Amino acid sequence: MTARTPLIAGNWKMYKTEAEAEEYIQALLPRVSTVQGTEVAICVPFTDVKAMADSARGSPVLVYAQTMHERPEGPFTGEVSAPMLAEAGAQGVLLGHSERRQLFGESDDALALKVPAALRSGLTPVLCVGETERERDGGETEGKLRRQMGDDLAGVGEERLAEIVIAYEPIWAIGTGRVATPEQAQETIAFIRSLLRERDEGAAERVRILYGGSVKPDNAAELLALADVDGALVGGASLQADSFAQIVGATAR
Ligand code: 13P
Repeated sequence: MTARTPLIAGNWKMYKTEAEAEEYIQALLPRVSTVQGTEVAICVPFTDVKAMADSARGSPVLVYAQTMHERPEGPFTGEVSAPMLAEAGAQGVLLGHSERRQLFGESDDALALKVPAALRSGLTPVLCVGETERERDGGETEGKLRRQMGDDLAGVGEERLAEIVIAYEPIWAIGTGRVATPEQAQETIAFIRSLLRERDEGAAERVRILYGGSVKPDNAAELLALADVDGALVGGASLQADSFAQIVGATAR
């Protein structure tokens, strides 16, 4: 089996001004300077991308954005494109986070264009997928994931599939303190990998699949030890350098 490099990504959401971001990165860098064999990324607000990328240059910390528009440029007031993010120093971008889907109408049609657009600009796309509590209770989890994975990755050719990162975030576990049980996380992430295998056996083994939803320092090690879990997407616990560094430290395997 191909060894996949674990990825621990923090998602700051709409937190931290540039000054707060700078204070954070100065606190984080010494805590992760000796990390080896794990990638560390922080998904920051647009206004923090350039300063964070400058401060993190040469360190193990990568700077990602939280969303982008699918077109490289155009009359789309308020939007930011992949080439703009790449030039500002971002190395990746979250796409299809459930908050973007639910609150800002990010659609599967747009995502089908955004994922290849990110790749074209050299950004690592982290595609977020996941079910609501009602969908889980109704036995619709696998159907939902099959649809999201099929629709959102429709524009990605097999030759680039392995560069995508998938973040499985059960919506009922986001910001709620309710974390998926290890069995739920393992079973669902194994299902997502089986969907990727239907596309391409070889690439499926190289795609990293993260778990997200109430990951904290005290539950990270157990989740990260699961066979199919290649890292974590961390919201609230990424806002303090200390707790985020502890989660990064839990990846040893
Ligand atoms: P929490 O870790 O705060 O539950 O947020 C998860 C998330 O949405 C990360 O993208």
